[in-house]
This record gives sequence, C-alpha cells and structure tokens, in this order.
Amino acid sequence: MIISLLLLQNFRNYPYLQLELKPGVSLFLGKNAQGKTNLLEACYYMSTLTSPRAEKESDLALWGASGFSLQGRLEDGSSTTTIRIDVSMTPSLRRRILLNDRPAKRQDLSLSFPCVYFCPDDLYMVKGSSALRRRFMDSLLSREDPVYAKDLSWYHDTVTRRNMALKKAPGDSSWEKTLETLEDLLVDTGSRVLSKRLRLLRSFTEYVKEAYEFISGGECHVSYNSSIGPIDEDLAGIRETFKKTLEKYRTEERLRGMTLVGPHRDDLAIVFRDKTFRYFGSQGQQRSVVLALKMAEARSFEEVFHTKPVLLLDDVLSELDDDKRSRVLSLCSFGYQILLTATDFPKDRGPGFHTFIVKDNNVTPL
Ligand SMILES: Nc1ncnc2c1ncn2[C@@H]1O[C@H](COP(=O)(O)OP(=O)(O)O)[C@@H](O)[C@H]1O
Ligand SMILES: [Mg+2]
Repeated sequence: MIISLLLLQNFRNYPYLQLELKPGVSLFLGKNAQGKTNLLEACYYMSTLTSPRAEKESDLALWGASGFSLQGRLEDGSSTTTIRIDVSMTPSLRRRILLNDRPAKRQDLSLSFPCVYFCPDDLYMVKGSSALRRRFMDSLLSREDPVYAKDLSWYHDTVTRRNMALKKAPGDSSWEKTLETLEDLLVDTGSRVLSKRLRLLRSFTEYVKEAYEFISGGECHVSYNSSIGPIDEDLAGIRETFKKTLEKYRTEERLRGMTLVGPHRDDLAIVFRDKTFRYFGSQGQQRSVVLALKMAEARSFEEVFHTKPVLLLDDVLSELDDDKRSRVLSLCSFGYQILLTATDFPKDRGPGFHTFIVKDNNVTPL
C-alpha cells in the first residue's frame, strides 16, 4: 500500500501542509531541525496514535494551538481509504478517528495504514537492555492483534498490584487471599501473552534470518528466552510451567516484594554462531541486525494485513555503508513505499526516487 496524500494542520512546526506522494522512495532532504522527522512522526501517529518520540499529544500540537489534525489518503491496488484524525486538548484530550468519513477505533488504524518506523536510536534494541526488545515485540504484536494489547496491559497491571500485595503479605495475612487471586490472573494473562509471543517467533525467526542474509550476507538467529523456563506456544503447557516456576520463587518473591518471573522479565536473544550481537557484534553488524528486525516486522505485517506496510526511515542511511544502503533502497523495487529523511543526497538514487526539500516549515518537491 502507499500513502498518496498527507495533510497536516497545526502538527508540530506545520500550521498547514499538504503533500502528494508517489510510490517508490520519497526523500525528505533538509538541514537539521527543519521538520523532516515531524513528517514521519505524523505518518506513524496516523498508524498507531502514538509517537516514536513524544510522550504526550500536547507535544505534537503546534506551539500555542489547542489541537491538531492529520489526514491521509491510502491506496492499495484499486482500493482507496481516507484517514482523518482530529485531536483536541482542551478542556481534556479528545481524539476523533474517521476512516472513509466514518467513526473508527484505534485498532482499525494499523489495519488500514500499517507502517514500520526506523531511526538511529533503534540501535539500542540490539545494544541496550531487554526492555527495549520486549517493547519491540509488544508494539508489533499489539498492532497486529488488539486482544494481545489488552492482555498485555492487564498483565502489567496485575504485576503492579501483585508486587504491592507481595510487599504487604508477610505482615498482614488478609493479603494472602488477594495474592492468590492475583496469581491466577497473572498466570492467565501472562500465559496468553507468552503463547502469542512464541507464535510470532515461529515465522519471525525465519524473516530475520532471511533479512539479515539479504543485508549483510551473514548469519543471525533470533529466539525467545523465557524467565519461566523452556516453553513452546501451547497455552496449557505454558500455564503449567508458569505455575511451577512461581512455586519455586515463592519465598524469594515475598522476600523481595516483587514478581521475579513472567513475560515482563523475558528477552529476545539475537545471536550469531552462539555469540550474542549485543556483546560481540561490531557496530556495523548491530546496525544490520536492527535493519533485519525492522524488515522482519514489515514481513510480519504483510502476512497479517495482506498488504506491504509503508517504511518510514528516519535519518538511517548515512550510517550504513554503500552496499547496505543500496540494499535498503532496493526494497522499493519489491513494492514497498519508502519515506526517507536525510541531510545529504544519498549516492545511489535509483528510478522511482522523489525528492522534497524541507525548509522553513515548508516542504517543496525538487
Ligand atoms: N510542537 C511544536 N510546535 C512547533 N514547532 C515544533 C514543535 N515541536 C518541534 N518543533 C520544531 O520542529 C523542529 C524539529 O523538527 P524535526 O522534524 O525533529 O527536525 P529534523 O528536520 O531535524 O528531523 C524544530 O525546529 C522544533 O523547534
Ligand atoms: Mg530528524
């Protein structure tokens, strides 16, 4: 699918901007702080109602404005969909979502406009703590499956309540009953989360392997490391293992007043020849791994949404060597629309390359 029209009103540094976009690569070229990332952020917000960098909506509205509006026209073969999102902040935050002029829900957005965002900070997904890898999996799965998003949020809420109960229980036996209930809830919601993560990994592992080979010619293997021990995606089996593991940690959890095992403690292991990229990969290899994860995310969306997502590449080309850069750009020849930001012209611009200059709150085709 492609986004063929993007309209921003009072979004970040744009009081009003209308852009016509074509299939292939759209390059947004400009100096720093001109509003290039803001354009990709607008697309990402239209797809997810979240921003890859802002915590709250009020950061997204033009300074002094009480809200913003985004519109997009999406084309997929012969079908056209329009998205409109109006956000107002006063007196309190209100969002209105329209798909083809009809009210719609948040979860309809990723279905209508799947996109994958990639920026230099994503390198921490490989170099950084397990929380970032969990966030990657969770964000991917939540967009593919609204039930996952609900289970996950319920699970996190249960962990918080259970941690409080674990702290109180030793001195106050009335908390014992609460702990029992919360433990059941923890196992229920946590097992569903785990089962879906493992089911994702079944195809995802292969996608990452293929993408990494395409980008760098090397080997890369992704697997799931669960804190409850070895499991497969069978729900009944996971529940049993989860319960047994909690049993094992019973004393320690009470002593420390926190839930020590479960999906909130798990990790995605990314290895080559038994070595983790996190500790042993070169900077170049780590960059290729992140690219491979993002390409695998795109493949996964394609399988679930039956259309190719739009790729939003923010400032990432300058960090790749010539060979990897041309491989990334060649993705447009596989039918992906790519929206790309850069401060310099990339060397290898192929056919289907449309350049826009981003300057003084304006975007003009070159
Ligand atoms: N809410 C906002 N209202 C108006 N301007 C904003 C807002 N948020 C950021 N900006 C401005 O947007 C510019 C940064 O845009 P960005 O897209 O990050 O730049 P870059 O071209 O470097 O990617 C800065 O000039 C900043 O002052
Ligand atoms: Mg930027």
